[in-house]
Amino acid sequence: MSDKDTSSVSEAEIAVYWQEENLLPPSAAFVAQANLTDRAIFERFGLDNFPDCFKEYADLLDWDQTWHTTLDSSDAPCFKWFVGGRINASHNCVDRHLALNRNKVALLFVPEPEGEAHQAITYQELWVRVNETAALLQDFAHLKAGDRVTIHLPMTPELPVTMLACARLGVIHSVVFAGFSGKACGERAADSGSRVLITMDSYYRGGALLDHKEKADEAVHAAAAEKQAIDTVLVWQRKTGGYHSATPMQAGRDHFMNEVLPRYRGKRVAPVPMPAEAPLFLMYTSGTTGRPKGCQHGTGGYLAYAAGTSKLVQDIHPNDVYWCMADIGWITGHTYIVYGPLALGATSVLFEGVPTFPDAGRAWRIAEQLGVNIFHTAPTTIRMLRKLGPDEPAKYNYHFKHMTTVGEPIEPTVWKWYHEVVGKGAAVIVDTWWQTETGGVLCSTMPGIHSMKAGSAGPAAPGIHASVLDEDGQNMPAGSGKAGNIIIRNPWPGLFQTIWGDRERYVKTYFAKYNKNPKSKDWRDWPYFPGDAAVLAADGYYRILGRVDDVINVAGHRLGTKELESACLIVNEVAEAAVVPVNDEIKGKLPEIYIALKPGVKASKTIEQAVVKAIEVEIGKIARPRHVWIVPDMPKTRSGKIMRRVLAAISNGSPVGDITTLANPEVVEQVRIMVQGK
Ligand code: PRX
Repeated sequence: MSDKDTSSVSEAEIAVYWQEENLLPPSAAFVAQANLTDRAIFERFGLDNFPDCFKEYADLLDWDQTWHTTLDSSDAPCFKWFVGGRINASHNCVDRHLALNRNKVALLFVPEPEGEAHQAITYQELWVRVNETAALLQDFAHLKAGDRVTIHLPMTPELPVTMLACARLGVIHSVVFAGFSGKACGERAADSGSRVLITMDSYYRGGALLDHKEKADEAVHAAAAEKQAIDTVLVWQRKTGGYHSATPMQAGRDHFMNEVLPRYRGKRVAPVPMPAEAPLFLMYTSGTTGRPKGCQHGTGGYLAYAAGTSKLVQDIHPNDVYWCMADIGWITGHTYIVYGPLALGATSVLFEGVPTFPDAGRAWRIAEQLGVNIFHTAPTTIRMLRKLGPDEPAKYNYHFKHMTTVGEPIEPTVWKWYHEVVGKGAAVIVDTWWQTETGGVLCSTMPGIHSMKAGSAGPAAPGIHASVLDEDGQNMPAGSGKAGNIIIRNPWPGLFQTIWGDRERYVKTYFAKYNKNPKSKDWRDWPYFPGDAAVLAADGYYRILGRVDDVINVAGHRLGTKELESACLIVNEVAEAAVVPVNDEIKGKLPEIYIALKPGVKASKTIEQAVVKAIEVEIGKIARPRHVWIVPDMPKTRSGKIMRRVLAAISNGSPVGDITTLANPEVVEQVRIMVQGK
């Protein structure tokens, strides 16, 4: 390998290579009720019928005007779906269910404190709340179609209500995960050009009422530093009648939603029929280099894909009680808590807190009490629940028919616990592989058709034509046993439209690698490159190994190594920083940090703590490293590149490989002893 190849490490390079597991068929009881059991769908969604096959998903929705062109590739690879069509996402998720299901529960909110009553919000009530909020956003915050608004809300009903109110007006929402710092929120607000920030005073997490409004003040500052003025901060209150934050409300800028909303009581706002390709939302995600990317999702295509996959992969039926335990601040929550389930008129459970508080039985008590029968979570949570309460599920009388895992590879042993103990051997599991950028599931078994295989996502979803390619673009045939880059050969309606304000980066990051003709307007020339390594088994199942770039997947959340490294460099004493992924029993991967200090500066605990603090402020507590190592020097190539691969090997206790070509091989042993001991 050249210096260039070995100077960095990717998750995939240190991925654990599991054994191929046996196939396990879904139960007859599941198949008997499944939304999809007919394999003919794969013919209907074959490339011969592309792109019109996706009409089947679009037909799940109400359109104000039908499209004339299913796929417009004239600006490839910025693809437009259902062009000429007009549609409103809020109407589809709310209004259209009133006629038959006004009284049905749309959102079932479970607060973290067990003593606090649940809120069952019917479609009727959701409609009223969305309308009044939309009226406020329009008349009080002066927002209109095409404007961007940043939403920094925790997992309470106000979050989906606010999103749907934006969608009603055609306002583009950008939800930032509540666990992100104020600074990270402000930078994202600046990038999107939001002049309005919507937040909450506080929320419960792990038994504590956290001050959240303080982050809004930091966000406004951070945005101002990037020349984006936020003139309006709308503050929901977690507890009616009280304000739970240490920071004062700033006159003229900050407004309590609960004080302003009564002025809009009874107000109705007609859903704006938006062009199908108008952006519905932005969702920021970490990339290899530089700033987070604002993934721009369109309205018609995204919603069609969300509804289609919710129906076929999540197998949601009208009478199911569906609980996706993700956070709406991530794409999983957007697609599979809010837009997909509500477009189908389902009941979606919203849980504020952590599933291990006050004890490891909490999730199963909720499932028992609400009669949840579809359960959706991430490997990191499954690992945590398995560790803290391996026998808890058996104590509760709930029955899942279907369970999902998403966000990172799941170890076969963990998968088996999920299947046997959580699913009580009866539920099917779908291991859904996809990304923020892809809007919905790309690879997964279709639960009523395919057998499951622990540790493998499964075949590509209907209408998704995947392959594994080597670095030169050669197809790696099924069963080769070799890892390569998974790609999708065709666009699909859930694919994001561009990176907000940076088309060039969109093309470069996701398409340039395998595109041979940058001028081509033919979608066949633009395979989508997600940045993951995968192995394709002889039976057509994809096993995802992890990122091939410098993105670390921590507990299913993407963190860019560059973002983390630049946060470290904020600490004055730090000269160089390198971040590597280290395997973690619960979170999958954790960042571990190596820093070298400026000349003459002595290593100290204070500097280590300052680095951790900088990361918390710049990004948020989710990015907190496992350890900060202050090293005498970084192992480097002769051209001066930091050898992250070597550091990652040291952190993970694996062989460092050939280091003879390094500029300073002696440093490797010094660092190894520091980290691993003699
Ligand atoms: O590396 C893959 C991993 O998570 C990345 C996408 O992260 P994000 O955009 O935050 O979206 C997560 C939720 C959709 C992917 O590039 N990933 C996601 N799902 C899986 C996965 N890795 C293995 N198996 C999965 N099921």
